[in-house]
Amino acid sequence: MNSQIAVDQINEQGHLTIGGVDIVELAQKYGTPLVVYDVDQIRRQIRAFKKVFEEENMAYAVSYASKAFAAIAMYQVIAEEGAYTDVVSAGELFTAIKANFPMERVSFHGNNKSLTELEMAVKNHVGKIIIDNFHEIQLLAQVLKKYDATISVMLRIAPGISAHTHEYDQTGQIDSKFGFDLESGQAEKALKQVLANPRMKMLGIHAHIGSQIFALNGFEMGAQKLMVVAQDWREKYGYLAQVINVGGGFGIKYTQEDHPLRPEEFVKVIKTEAEKMNYPLPEIDIEPGRSIVGPAGYNLYTVGSRKDIPGYRSYITVDGGMGDNIRPALYQAKYETVLATDPQAPLTEHVRIAGKYCESGDILAEDQALPQVKAGDLLAMLDTGAYGYSMASNYNRNPRPAVVFAENGKAKLVIKRESLEDLVHLDQSYLN
Ligand code: LLP
Repeated sequence: MNSQIAVDQINEQGHLTIGGVDIVELAQKYGTPLVVYDVDQIRRQIRAFKKVFEEENMAYAVSYASKAFAAIAMYQVIAEEGAYTDVVSAGELFTAIKANFPMERVSFHGNNKSLTELEMAVKNHVGKIIIDNFHEIQLLAQVLKKYDATISVMLRIAPGISAHTHEYDQTGQIDSKFGFDLESGQAEKALKQVLANPRMKMLGIHAHIGSQIFALNGFEMGAQKLMVVAQDWREKYGYLAQVINVGGGFGIKYTQEDHPLRPEEFVKVIKTEAEKMNYPLPEIDIEPGRSIVGPAGYNLYTVGSRKDIPGYRSYITVDGGMGDNIRPALYQAKYETVLATDPQAPLTEHVRIAGKYCESGDILAEDQALPQVKAGDLLAMLDTGAYGYSMASNYNRNPRPAVVFAENGKAKLVIKRESLEDLVHLDQSYLN
């Protein structure tokens, strides 16, 4: 059986279960395509990160990068777990507000925050603004003056390190749209501007070096760079960083080829680097997105048409595709898929799993080993919880799927399936 499925996830009927709920029941009740999260797995991952910091006796914040999956229910779970979150848009912030997420635990990220977004952040007293560029320093100064407010800020630097598994996931290299460049002195100039503004409380320094990272040395180098910068700023400006934020990017196991590290391994190298310096150990913040929700998410599809091309391959088509998970088409991302009603069945053929969208590139899996499947069978694609629903679209005017949270044998609808009416609700007639 697929090693990404736990033995206790198979019930007496031989069906896959998620959060103790039978996949067949989920599909019958909510329809497919369907996104299902195992909430306990989300909680366990957050707790695993927190535990390492606590065992190491470090000041820390585990800040869930909500771009990976943002929904009211998700912010509620994050809040329940005592974690922090980061948002990158008015939309994510609004959703967090709707979830009653404690605003002091929110960081606002982004390389082009608008005046409106900054106003919203200041008015709602978000915990930290992660400043990305000079334009933002100006806008924020304007907003703080207007509201006679102060706010904690951090400076995002581009550490000149790229650790990643795919080109599109690079965010740490010098030639990047994110953060202040170190070499040219931009970061230092930004520090001076922020320190000169009494309304901005300069908490510390941030860097994010990429996503789906497996190698420890990326984090080692990233943490080292941040500490070197902190040390330099201490010597030059007497500035002492209270917080060092090393970003997210912790890799997960999508397929047998992926070998992710355990949370403690990441945290320990970061701590070691921070301690190597003759510097008071700052609070260490991390921003995991994928590693918190990725492995907890499943996309359920129903098999429809099949096309066998003699001498080539067989295509089986499901009722979803690039509209609910664009990652295979966009990043050539690989996932494992199982026959949800019998994940233990012997795998007898290799097929290409195609989506239903009008685009040749709408392929969910290039080459998946499966038992013989027929129309009406239920497939579960594993580890789809990060950047699947959050990057979903209405391409071909297909409605986005429903999202269900399952835990302790109970399922709860947390995002409704879009209806056909939903698809036209913003449209306006052109006739008179
Ligand atoms: N912090 C910052 C500043 C980030 O830019 C990101 C991701 C994270 C944290 C969370 O990274 P994670 O732990 O999830 O790897 N759409 C792409 C991923 C883009 C990641 C962008 N930034 C994908 O589907 O792979």
